[in-house]
Amino acid sequence: MMQYTLDHVVIAVPDVRASASAYQAQFGSRIRLRAPGEAWLQHDGPAPLVLREGDEAPGIRYAAYRVDSAHAACDDLTSKGVRRAWDLADQGYVQHCGFYDADGLPFQVFSTPADEPRTWTTSRPAMSTALRFHHVNILTPDVRRAIQFYEQVLGLWVALAYQPDFSGFNLLIDRAFDDHEHNIMLEITGPPGLDEREAAYLATHGPCYDHICFSTADPAATYHRLVDNGAPPLYEPVDYYGNVLAWVEDPQRVHVELMKPISTESLAGVLRGGPPLCFTTLTYEGDAS
Ligand SMILES: [Fe+2]
Repeated sequence: MMQYTLDHVVIAVPDVRASASAYQAQFGSRIRLRAPGEAWLQHDGPAPLVLREGDEAPGIRYAAYRVDSAHAACDDLTSKGVRRAWDLADQGYVQHCGFYDADGLPFQVFSTPADEPRTWTTSRPAMSTALRFHHVNILTPDVRRAIQFYEQVLGLWVALAYQPDFSGFNLLIDRAFDDHEHNIMLEITGPPGLDEREAAYLATHGPCYDHICFSTADPAATYHRLVDNGAPPLYEPVDYYGNVLAWVEDPQRVHVELMKPISTESLAGVLRGGPPLCFTTLTYEGDAS
């Protein structure tokens, strides 16, 4: 089966220089790469956040999945009846094409030449941002349909189903997930069981890429640091079943969640083939054992 590896997330911005500067000032992000109209931001983990300048509405544009061959992936997805968002483009150093998921949200599949090094080769930057890109979230009215799409079409699997009926949030990982070098997740959230913010966002935006999330050892302290740095506050830190969640906005008003990372021990069980984590088996880094 074709391997789809969640690699990065692209955010549309009206002015890439201004947005990148704001990310640097507020989030401590480092610019790993600049390309025409793009800035690739790095935090403590390997997963980049890509700011891309354009005319489209500011916000999360799509998640991008690395494949061995964009051409083969394009054929694979087309044969599965997945609707195409944009045709295969060959830019020399990268080939990519776009498709729509079960909710009509775009995603990209891309490949780079075999001799091209991975964009991110180090997970330990010289200077810590105290933030690690943890997940990108899809908010959908039909969480089961969305999960089924990503499982059956892209081969992702549920590592965490907070509730047995998949209500609320679920975290999916791909086959390359290793909790160290490659550990970005796809979160899928849907009713019933939405909180106030999620219900309001779904009502006004419909199915959408809802938010990005950074994990950090101390979400409350990080929240106050980011707000002091100028990030717009959204929700003050709250204790949430063993975690601490807090919310700010990015320079495009994208909602940004802060949380403690899921413990390595919790994930190790899942990666050994155990059942998905759930409300009762989930622990976070820093929990008393
Ligand atoms: Fe989230």
